[in-house]
Amino acid sequence: MPKVLVAFASLTGNTEEMAELIVEGIRAAGGEAVMKSVTDCNAIEIQEYEGVLLGAYTWGDGELPDEFLDFYEEMDELELQGVKAAVFGSGDTGYEIYCGAVDQLEAKLKERGGVIVQDNLKVEYGPNAAEKELCRSFGRQFIEAFAAVS
Ligand SMILES: Cc1cc2nc3c(=O)[nH]c(=O)nc-3n(C[C@H](O)[C@H](O)[C@H](O)COP(=O)(O)O)c2cc1C
Repeated sequence: MPKVLVAFASLTGNTEEMAELIVEGIRAAGGEAVMKSVTDCNAIEIQEYEGVLLGAYTWGDGELPDEFLDFYEEMDELELQGVKAAVFGSGDTGYEIYCGAVDQLEAKLKERGGVIVQDNLKVEYGPNAAEKELCRSFGRQFIEAFAAVS
């Protein structure tokens, strides 16, 4: 049973709702998930898990939220070769850079050697009924990626 970290930042609850649904999907697929606010964990903790899912809303002009800045910097110390990873988040298409934080986190995970096992998941505001199911599938698929290669 793969053990994965789901670390997220959410100001008004949209990304947190996505994280909760993703965790449901992970557990439904037989995975073990630890869900944490990014302010309650250090990036070094990723190394204790077989996989990591990072979730963030986007702030400013396509920027990472402030709560993610320490964690993002700490990631520069990590060697994530072989660690499975994926990224999700909420944004607003009214902004020029839609869900830019998701793209930044994905690029950082790749830069540190993480293996992005599936396309990122971007949702506008909170997930609607169809997007709730997409979130659950995102969690399920992440766990299925472990079976696919081992
Ligand atoms: C000041 C401000 C700046 C924002 N900038 C962006 C942005 O550049 N791109 C984007 O996609 N969304 C942007 N958003 C929208 C939020 O990411 C969106 O409301 C999201 O659903 C919040 O998620 P949360 O409930 O997890 O905090 C911005 C929102 C605010 C209030």
